[in-house]
Amino acid sequence: MSLPISRRAFAGTLGAAAGVAILDTPLMSRAAEAAAKAAANRYPDALAEEAREAIAKHHGVAVDQVLLGCGSSEILRMADMAFSGPGRRVVAAEPTFEAVLMFAKVLRADGVKVPLTADFRHDLPKMASACDATTGLVYVCNPNNPTATIVTGDEMAAFAAKVPPSATILVDEAYHHFVEDPRYRSSLELIAKHPNVVVARTFSKIYGMAGLRLGYAVSSMEAIAAMAPYASWSNTNAAVLAAAAASLADPDLAPRQKKLLNDTRKWLVSELTKQGRRTMPSEANFVMVDVGGDVAPVIQAFRAKKILVGRKFPSLPNWLRVTIGKREEVAAFLAALPEIVPAPVRAA
Ligand SMILES: Cc1ncc(COP(=O)(O)O)c(C=O)c1O
Repeated sequence: MSLPISRRAFAGTLGAAAGVAILDTPLMSRAAEAAAKAAANRYPDALAEEAREAIAKHHGVAVDQVLLGCGSSEILRMADMAFSGPGRRVVAAEPTFEAVLMFAKVLRADGVKVPLTADFRHDLPKMASACDATTGLVYVCNPNNPTATIVTGDEMAAFAAKVPPSATILVDEAYHHFVEDPRYRSSLELIAKHPNVVVARTFSKIYGMAGLRLGYAVSSMEAIAAMAPYASWSNTNAAVLAAAAASLADPDLAPRQKKLLNDTRKWLVSELTKQGRRTMPSEANFVMVDVGGDVAPVIQAFRAKKILVGRKFPSLPNWLRVTIGKREEVAAFLAALPEIVPAPVRAA
């Protein structure tokens, strides 16, 4: 099976596909050094326990409330395995990050897709109504990939109160660190009241470790205990655990990366607005741009210029997803865009 194009490496171009942060900034060097020095000749289990402890401390929860994964993708798969299966319903938005519904399909669960609202946000009231007694899992990607829109803290709290406790609410916070909207709150705050809430996080995005693979879940001890048996043994590696420990020990790293990425994103959006283009409000490190027609040939035209942009999302056929890379990469994208899609003519 070939990987979706958006997940392949494409050297020397705008790294604009899978929503990863800038990897090679000086900010990342301490983590990279730690990874290079990691003991490759030993199983990583002791280091994994230390990482669990560090993550638990970071979030102020018990160690038994934390589960590590080979990227957060493995966390999503474990949630599917623990909480879905034949005859069970898995509810998700459309479009959203596909992994949960893909794993659900393999497990012969019934995937239910709930379209986003007209302003490209999760339709939580409809998603809650779609949760019946057979529902095992409901997935909320916050911020959402590919739209970069958010669910507010109040909306999420109201949703958690409505969903039956027999359904697990999986909140994917892969892009949590980029959010600036004050109405947003992490769903970690819901776990004490709603033990069926599982929050997934990753070191792939703000910490720039997509190639090293580390993600984790935080939830109630019961939910973590239900997911843990589905982890493959020694599912993390010494290099990423050392890099993650170094990153967590530097409280300024995530805020600095956030500022770097978000400043570039704001510049991109202002330049696109100057070109007269419509964008979705972004709270992540990628932006959706309206190209006014089928996005498929636009993506191909960018590839021909060695600029890799996101793939087509069939339910948003006119929208192009571009991930924030280095400033010069974004500049290359901005220069190429009018050559591929002439800017809309504005009313005088
Ligand atoms: C919303 C979301 N969740 C999870 C992932 C998986 O990330 P990883 O497995 O690298 O942690 C991605 C990757 O693109 C994503 O966009």
